[in-house]
Amino acid sequence: MNPEHPVSKPWGGRFAAPTEGLVETFTASIDFDQRLYPYDIQGSVAHATMLATIGVLTNEERDAIIRGLEGIQADIIAGRFSWSKALEDVHMNLEAELTRRIGTAGKKLHTGRSRNDQVATDLRLYLRDETDAILAHLARLQRVLLDTAEAESETIMPGFTHLQIAQPVTLGHHMMAWFEMLTRDQQRFVDCRRRINYMPLGSSALAGTSYPIDRRLTAQLLGFEAISENSLDAVSDRDFVIEFVAVAALLMTHLSRISEELILWSSAQFGFVEIADAFCTGSSIMPQKKNPDVPELVRGKCARVSGHLLALLMLMKAQPLAYNRDNQEDKEPLFDTIDTVKASLQIYIEMLSTVTINRARMRESAMRGFSTATDLADYLVRKGVPFRDAHAIVGQAVRHGIAANRDLTEMNLTELQQFSEAIEHDVFDVLTVEGSVASRAHLGGTAAVEVRRAVDRARKRLRTCSTTPVAGGASNGI
Ligand code: ARG
Repeated sequence: MNPEHPVSKPWGGRFAAPTEGLVETFTASIDFDQRLYPYDIQGSVAHATMLATIGVLTNEERDAIIRGLEGIQADIIAGRFSWSKALEDVHMNLEAELTRRIGTAGKKLHTGRSRNDQVATDLRLYLRDETDAILAHLARLQRVLLDTAEAESETIMPGFTHLQIAQPVTLGHHMMAWFEMLTRDQQRFVDCRRRINYMPLGSSALAGTSYPIDRRLTAQLLGFEAISENSLDAVSDRDFVIEFVAVAALLMTHLSRISEELILWSSAQFGFVEIADAFCTGSSIMPQKKNPDVPELVRGKCARVSGHLLALLMLMKAQPLAYNRDNQEDKEPLFDTIDTVKASLQIYIEMLSTVTINRARMRESAMRGFSTATDLADYLVRKGVPFRDAHAIVGQAVRHGIAANRDLTEMNLTELQQFSEAIEHDVFDVLTVEGSVASRAHLGGTAAVEVRRAVDRARKRLRTCSTTPVAGGASNGI
């Protein structure tokens, strides 16, 4: 070891002077990229195995490397490993420790490889696993929504446009709207995973390597479905990270919208739901307060993930080919996105299962705000009145109702008949919120029977998703 270099760097040969302390701190990524260690080890094991099959390593060297890396992994898990800032990142920390433990064989591991293809490989392996973990959480949350939709298929609540009461809907239908949003998120994650699952290893620093490497073997060992076709592109682009974070930002946007509704619904003014005490917090000054902090925070965390998306887009936009150190900055936004999405999904799964629903309050609210006015207009159309005239007639009835402080459902026949002679006794079948909801019995409609059908279809869909391997379709036939 050079006495002037307290820790000798794997790239130190060319340098006469040690790294400035400030620079060391500024360039180090070990504080955050150490979370990639299982994938870095996995990649190194595959690389060493491949190097042995092409005769670059002996079988003994390969076995020493693999055993050495396994020992390091065990020590990291047991909390017995100390990471060094002077060794910059996870890749150099692991390699230096391996060499310290097994000697010369450790120094051969990096043959035909660069940190540039190594980090791209680690990131893709890591993201593939995390995508699967997120998909599993999403499926659990979707099941909670399906259970609620089924239990509440008959529950009547007001449907809103412009946050004004519009028409009655069923709570089951509303839950299925949330479910559909999450289904598209799930599909986007599956689709994005296909582009994550490409192997950059073998691209080396940027131009490939002069060793007769077997990329198919390493890809197979690492479970990659496809192999990158251009070394310059493979070490430099992070579009798979951007795409993943974009998908995550959309998911968070959906969770934020759902949160907004839960916050409104749990207010005294709405009183539709009560979020369990365990998921709320109080006020330090107002003793009566019970605040919906969890959905508020999910709504707030959506902002962070959207911010990460923008940061990553900006990070990439002016980079010339091939690898640039800028790309080290992809990790913190990505890691925080993953932590945020997983935590939000987990807390939602728990919280939603404990929400209590005030059915009476929802129904009562749906009865207000003239929510069956469209049903009355449709009734008049069925009696031969042109729709525009029907619209005007009902408008007058509503104006009367506002002045008399009575909803359409509370008016008697003679009162209604002042607006149109076409109104007869059977009008009360359509003026009730139950009649209104039941009449919308078509695919995609709010009727209880349709909600139950939608739940059945969704359960089947969810079952096929979890039994079909996510893999498929990405292979480029190499
Ligand atoms: N820590 C680096 C990163 O995250 C690893 C690759 C370093 N490559 C290099 N040529 N300095 O991007």
